[in-house]
Amino acid sequence: MPEAAPRRPLVVGNWKMHMTVAEARSYIAELGPLLPGHEAVEVGICPPFTALAACVEELRDSEIAVYAQTMHEGESGGHTGEISAPMLTELGVDGVVLGHSERRRDNAETDRALSEKLPAALEAKLRPILCVGETEAERDDGDTERRLRHQVQEALESVADESLPDVVIAYEPIWAIGSGRSATAEQVQEAIGFIRALVGDRSAPAAERVRVLYGGSVKGENAAELLAGPDVDGALVGGASLEAPELAAIVAAAARISA
Ligand code: PGA
Repeated sequence: MPEAAPRRPLVVGNWKMHMTVAEARSYIAELGPLLPGHEAVEVGICPPFTALAACVEELRDSEIAVYAQTMHEGESGGHTGEISAPMLTELGVDGVVLGHSERRRDNAETDRALSEKLPAALEAKLRPILCVGETEAERDDGDTERRLRHQVQEALESVADESLPDVVIAYEPIWAIGSGRSATAEQVQEAIGFIRALVGDRSAPAAERVRVLYGGSVKGENAAELLAGPDVDGALVGGASLEAPELAAIVAAAARISA
């Protein structure tokens, strides 16, 4: 059997509703010089819609990818306030976060809608980062696997097996997001191993190649421990990514693990 290609680690900073265009430009100027030496790791940022064009422009000669934070499944239509895949690709955006728990909570982003958003993003050549994760009550009730199974299976339902490796999945337990209370390294590896097995139920080769990230209170100081599990392929970082040196420290930790 040929040896499976190693999965390139990925660290993505989700800025959420932070950063004006001016702030985004100065952040990028600060981040750029902090990353050389960590080429083993793929790096991305998720600015708000208003800063996407400026970030693409600032990063034109860089390998840092630019992701949107959400996207509508349709191409155009009567959906006030929404943005479509062609609008993102026109700007030169590389990917899009889909199903973040804050969007599920505040904007009723459902697994059903996600099952249309994933294929729409892939069709447009945008790399989707699908976020999944359980609530604290679900974990306490022993329902974590049931929740993850439902979210992963339904969102990926309309993605062809051969396209599954183009999807990135982020395991983000809701109780660990923005709380300062990350999951333990064991919980991270266990949940991410389970998610990989769910992809394996669809396609064993895809499960080997699909990248699964952890998100939830990742910082420079805990990244090495949280990302060390054999199934953990990097991090989706919220709060800590707002400081360029913190994001760079997480990238450095991911690079050390993969070395
Ligand atoms: P956090 O957010 O790192 O601030 O916990 C993670 C996320 O929402 O992706």
